[in-house]
Amino acid sequence: MKKRKGIILAGGKGTRLYPLTLAISKQIMPVYDKPMIYYPLYVLMEAGIREILIITTARDNSIFKELLGDGSKWGVHFEYAIQNEPKGLAEAFVIGEKFIGKDNVVLILGDNMFYGGNLKEILKRANARENESTIFGYKVNNPNQYGVVEINEQGKAISIEEKPEKPKSNYAVPGLYFYTNDVIQIAKNLKPSARGELEITSVNEAYMKKNKLVVEKLGRGMAWFDTGTHDALLETASFVQTIQKRQGLQICCPEEIAFENGWIDKKQLENLSISLMKSDYGKFLRGLAEDID
Ligand code: G1P
Repeated sequence: MKKRKGIILAGGKGTRLYPLTLAISKQIMPVYDKPMIYYPLYVLMEAGIREILIITTARDNSIFKELLGDGSKWGVHFEYAIQNEPKGLAEAFVIGEKFIGKDNVVLILGDNMFYGGNLKEILKRANARENESTIFGYKVNNPNQYGVVEINEQGKAISIEEKPEKPKSNYAVPGLYFYTNDVIQIAKNLKPSARGELEITSVNEAYMKKNKLVVEKLGRGMAWFDTGTHDALLETASFVQTIQKRQGLQICCPEEIAFENGWIDKKQLENLSISLMKSDYGKFLRGLAEDID
């Protein structure tokens, strides 16, 4: 299978979260018991992606490096790049051109959280589409806040619009995009939109016009949150807290996935738990390491 690399876009000023984000990155904010970036990171790791580029603002770059390092502690490899101005999501492919090289790529937004029993299968399917790109459709009550995709009876996208006043459907496009390598060229040829950004929606439209876009609906059992506002941040945290407390399991725990994927062994997992032992998170990791022989 053609190799696929991952990009997490964790730039932007997070103005909808002011004053929280006046001095610190949105994607470092806590979502219950973990920094926000753990959630999208988990998705990439669950998709089997081990080479990941993390794009941040210049101001916040060192914080992410301090938190995540080079990835070796989790059996993955992180590289870092800077987006100087919030020039749009699609700029990630221009910034990441060298990193992507000749491979396919998946972009996830640093403030998006996905959780659901069949996530792994969905990711596997999208990953396996070597010659087509995949985006997702998720039914929401407030589609005008998002990219909106209109899907016909054959399941094909027939229109995609960015934050339309009059949405043509209730299907929002979450911030998770599996693209073929030509996304670099597509992004390079884009013109900035009226708000001065290289829009991800324009990338999706380009694939739609080429008949190379698959839209997968994420069903009822899937939770998707964009944690970019105060309410969304709190709601996502409550969701994580509710499920974790009920089950005694962790949601979106990178260490757990690294262990499950065989990227770190029992001893490494145990070592990772040591400095975290005062929290339930650390105790969970220790429990994982002890349970499996
Ligand atoms: C961005 C995209 C939008 C997408 C959303 C998902 O919007 O432009 O198409 O639906 O992310 O989180 P933003 O949240 O950056 O305004």
